[in-house]
Amino acid sequence: MHDEWWRGAAIYELYVQSFADASKDGIGDLAGVRQRLPYLADLGVDAIWFTPWYPSPMADAGYDVADFRDIAPRFGTLAEADTLIEEAHQLNIKIIIDIVPNHCSDQHVWFQAALAAAPGSAERARFWFRPGKGPDGNEPPNHWQSIFGGPAWRQVPDGEWYLHLFAPEQPDFNWANPEVRREFEDILRFWFDRGVDGIRIDSAALLTKDPELPEITEGAPDPHSDRDDVHEIYRGWRKIADEYGNKVLIGEIWLPDAARLARYTRPDELHTVFNFPYLNCPWDAAALKKVIDDAPTPATWVLSNHDVDRHVSRYGRADTSFDLQARDHSQPVDLVLGTRRARAAALLTMALPDAVYIYQGDELGLWEVEDIPDELRQDPIWKRTGGKDPGRDGCRVPLPWSGVEPPFGFTDGGRPWLPQPKEWRDLTVEHESGDPESMLELYRAALRIRRELLGTGPMTWLPSPDGVLAVAREHLRCVVNLSAAPVELPDGTILLASGPLGADATLPPDTAVWVH
Ligand code: NOJ
Repeated sequence: MHDEWWRGAAIYELYVQSFADASKDGIGDLAGVRQRLPYLADLGVDAIWFTPWYPSPMADAGYDVADFRDIAPRFGTLAEADTLIEEAHQLNIKIIIDIVPNHCSDQHVWFQAALAAAPGSAERARFWFRPGKGPDGNEPPNHWQSIFGGPAWRQVPDGEWYLHLFAPEQPDFNWANPEVRREFEDILRFWFDRGVDGIRIDSAALLTKDPELPEITEGAPDPHSDRDDVHEIYRGWRKIADEYGNKVLIGEIWLPDAARLARYTRPDELHTVFNFPYLNCPWDAAALKKVIDDAPTPATWVLSNHDVDRHVSRYGRADTSFDLQARDHSQPVDLVLGTRRARAAALLTMALPDAVYIYQGDELGLWEVEDIPDELRQDPIWKRTGGKDPGRDGCRVPLPWSGVEPPFGFTDGGRPWLPQPKEWRDLTVEHESGDPESMLELYRAALRIRRELLGTGPMTWLPSPDGVLAVAREHLRCVVNLSAAPVELPDGTILLASGPLGADATLPPDTAVWVH
């Protein structure tokens, strides 16, 4: 096994509840994943990142963790996770899990103990409990807002308030407390000892807070995000990862400032961070070029994940950029255009150096489901914003595997926990397999060629007309036409094209080629 396997890896984000259901309850599970491991090996991925698989009341789809050392009964058992890790390793697939250190579920034993204990107790000191403001303490300690909407504080019966940067069911840990630090270091070891190869760190910039809990004022340092003291935590985690060797720490950090983001990947901290500026970027050659040039190193390339509108839909809108804080499902979507661009984007992404992330369903060309009936929506964002923000359910709809109607082989008993569009009959694994024009075969071919020809070596830009991106790697050139007119095809043997080429040896708009 070579060192730093993660550097050039293709990493598949597996959203457990929507991948495959073997227990017939309409919710994906580990048994479903085990049955489909050969599919992932055949797709050509090097690693799977599992979104949280722990016991959870699911107030935030599993990001409200009740026990960091177990598996949710709805997904399986710890023994089954061990087997899965082993089976994946036999197929040369690494396993990355999701650790959520900023908060836990309100059902976690520590939080339950904190609720049962008195103000000022050691149990409460693991969280951010504070007396309220106002004459009778019935106003929150400050005006911080929850990222999911509404105030970031909830009052408990004895009058104290606790901080939750996300849903009220997700109390924030107090990372100034050494007990919290020790607990998470122990959790890392627990999973590394079970053979897990990497950790995706949820909300990684938010962990430490200014203990004075000051109001947020423009110009002053942010008291609850990207504070300098958060880095010390990751230095400690890196030491643990290094003790085991060959493990990867990946930070989920949404920071617009490239220099601040780069601080997390200093040599003694995290190995990589997700490159969200690439995901947010509009389908525009100049903007993409800049984002690619500014990418954190080692680079990661992310087009979609379980928190954002699927890129087939994003690229089919008039505004092709994405803003996590301003999801907009009111724009019309041209799915044909979006799919054409998503195919070209896949070739661009997979031609870039270092690691690439594939969110489950990207390889099938799934789009954002924007018409989920309100009564079936699950995302706390939708609920907490009173529907103003449509939330993230539309990118979490269960995968279509086979057959011509829902549930498309996702489950053979239950009703999928979110409804699948009937049009997905043309996007099932079964339907796309063997069709050279399908998204699935494009991904399979691109991942195979990428593995054979592309490593982690550098890229250079080749001269190209306005609106065209031309990337050179050691054995391959990738040319993407983002302009509105056809351009000349590059010389060389064409290895792969994202769509039909012009009869006159031209590269049509929104099309990419790989040339040897
Ligand atoms: C980021 C995760 O990706 C998202 O799904 C979750 O809601 C928040 N962190 C809170 O854990």
